[in-house]
Amino acid sequence: MNAYSTGWLKRGFPWVYPAEVVRGRVEIGSTVRLRGEGGADLGVGIGDSGWISVRRFRRDDGPIDEAWLGSRVAAAHRRRAAIEPDTTAYRLVNAENDELPGVRVDIWGRHAVITTDSPSLTGLVPGLVRGVASAVGELDSVWLAERRDPRDVARAAAPVRCLSGGAEDVVVTEAGLRYVVRPSLGKDAGLFTDMASNRAWLARHWRGARVLNLFAHTGAFSVSARANGAEEVVSVDLSEGYLTRARRNFEINGLEPGELLAEDAFKVLDRFRRQGRIFDRVVVDPPGFSHSEAGAWQGEKEWPRLAAACLRVIAPGGWLVAASNLGSQSPKAFGGALQEGAERAGRELRLIHEGTPGADHPAALHFPESRYLKFWVMEAN
Ligand SMILES: C[S@@+](CC[C@H](N)C(=O)[O-])C[C@H]1O[C@@H](n2cnc3c(N)ncnc32)[C@H](O)[C@@H]1O
Repeated sequence: MNAYSTGWLKRGFPWVYPAEVVRGRVEIGSTVRLRGEGGADLGVGIGDSGWISVRRFRRDDGPIDEAWLGSRVAAAHRRRAAIEPDTTAYRLVNAENDELPGVRVDIWGRHAVITTDSPSLTGLVPGLVRGVASAVGELDSVWLAERRDPRDVARAAAPVRCLSGGAEDVVVTEAGLRYVVRPSLGKDAGLFTDMASNRAWLARHWRGARVLNLFAHTGAFSVSARANGAEEVVSVDLSEGYLTRARRNFEINGLEPGELLAEDAFKVLDRFRRQGRIFDRVVVDPPGFSHSEAGAWQGEKEWPRLAAACLRVIAPGGWLVAASNLGSQSPKAFGGALQEGAERAGRELRLIHEGTPGADHPAALHFPESRYLKFWVMEAN
């Protein structure tokens, strides 16, 4: 490796890029011994032919075998002791952050979905399957989602294959509340577990509130709000399909679903402003990009307009709960966009809480790429 890569690997960063390889051949899926400038031993990884040349799995020179994979899954499992109680949906392995680069494992009750970032990692799957079963116990089904190119995170969903068992919809719990998910849909299973800790924080703050949940998806924030005493909950999502799933999530918790609006969030905000409808809590968790008849949602660029529109329907002293999962948007840029929105609406915002994904989504400080989420709770004057 060149000097630049040597420095990063010594600090814990697990990837080597093609331009950093100065000697030796890297074959896709093969075990690669890493040597830095001056011959320093930098561990062992798996070779790839894409935008990453080697993913390092160990810092010593031992094998990347079933025993090693099992020990990493077991370590990840011990880390999950800190997740919310009464929760059967969680991420068991968070890739680079759990010393298993390019590998995610999501647990949905007695079902597991393994996601690999590249075909170079396919050889690890049998060892991973056994490691997962010995950490969490026998599973009813195991699925494999193979991503072709990890830069596709936001685009094409990985095709999902059933490795054992089989399941359609399954019911999982998060903090005691029930949600229906479909493991075979991979990333689109139906519950974003990286928001569990934020739902847990908000749980104490819904009582008596009028809540507007924009980009509601399958309604996890809405269900949690209603279950924790919200007086009124309006859920908005462009997709009728997601709202059907949201209705089911209300029903299996014995909750009344309130208003479910299959519309563009901006259109609803505009209508509510004209009608003078106001809310005590507005949750806004948009996707990176999307398209609707009302136009394309351009992620980062839209935040000032979106924040301003939300603030026009928030009661004095009410809260704007804003989430952005765009890794490319820095917290500073996010704050700037929200402030611009506040100025447009003639309001002031005060940050009162900043959330992170929970203990099942650890973020290694030597791998800054993993800190994508901004979750800000702000009081509006
Ligand atoms: C990141 S997900 C929201 C996750 C959700 N807050 C949760 O925790 O389950 C984004 C959602 O926004 C919806 N969406 C995309 N564009 C929209 C728009 N213009 N108006 C309303 N919803 C939209 C998508 O259908 C998707 O369900």
